[in-house]
Amino acid sequence: MPELCTVPSALRRLDAPASLPHRYRALDVGAGIGRVTADVLLHLVHDVVLVEPVESLVQEALARGKASADTQRRRKKSGPWKGIQEKAKSVTFIQDTLQGIDPIRPSSSSKVLGRVGYVPPAEDLDEPFDVVWGQWCLGSLSDPDLVKFLKRSRAALRDPSHSLIIVKENCCADTEDGKPQTVYDDTDSTLTRSDLAWKKLFEEAGLQLIQEQTQLGFPEGLYMVRMLVPRSSNCAHSLGTRDPSHSKYAEWLGSRFTLR
Ligand SMILES: C[S@@+](CC[C@H](N)C(=O)[O-])C[C@H]1O[C@@H](n2cnc3c(N)ncnc32)[C@H](O)[C@@H]1O
Repeated sequence: MPELCTVPSALRRLDAPASLPHRYRALDVGAGIGRVTADVLLHLVHDVVLVEPVESLVQEALARGKASADTQRRRKKSGPWKGIQEKAKSVTFIQDTLQGIDPIRPSSSSKVLGRVGYVPPAEDLDEPFDVVWGQWCLGSLSDPDLVKFLKRSRAALRDPSHSLIIVKENCCADTEDGKPQTVYDDTDSTLTRSDLAWKKLFEEAGLQLIQEQTQLGFPEGLYMVRMLVPRSSNCAHSLGTRDPSHSKYAEWLGSRFTLR
């Protein structure tokens, strides 16, 4: 699966199919200053909607996006974001929380701050998503809020049988007798969930885990970092509607996540 450190470089062409039925879109939630958008998502899709509640962080993300759009103002520190200056790709910035954002209608957020890069002929903010990515931010949600967010995300996916939700979070162990476990950290009011705890919440949201991976290379004694990929558990109804070229891209996108 792609990682911030392993996704192919902006200079290396990916073997994406040439003709696509539509532009591919990702939602990056709890996005901070836009690391996942810049280093992963813009390498995989055309258009990203970046959502972050903290003013200073979302403004920094916006500044980095704007700097990428303008050759004169490019920041040496972070490097230009792929496809933005050429207007081949786009990022739209929204200041909102996971509880507040409606992935089905991002335009309903009160603070849509701006967009850089590609400008569509018609408004596309509420088009469905091919990828919803939540990295190191879902622990700030209670179980009921997380299930609501996952349900809204599931409903916002373009194709339930190919579109993806990606969860990358710290994970604790299940209990010794094999039960789900959730650990509350009162220093930052976050929850760390075990594998079974995640699986239970996915199930409640109508999702089923199809891929999981542990990120290696962290020092011992820290929580495991896990990438979990759930998909809609009742996706069979959409299979007849898929365009073959869409299917080809979806397969390619899936291969980036080692989901064959
Ligand atoms: C550790 S950072 C991760 C940022 C980014 N996902 C990354 O991996 O680089 C956690 C982010 O989650 C955001 N966050 C915390 N609670 C949130 C909430 N309820 N809704 C949306 N974002 C939240 C924080 O503002 C922060 O930007």
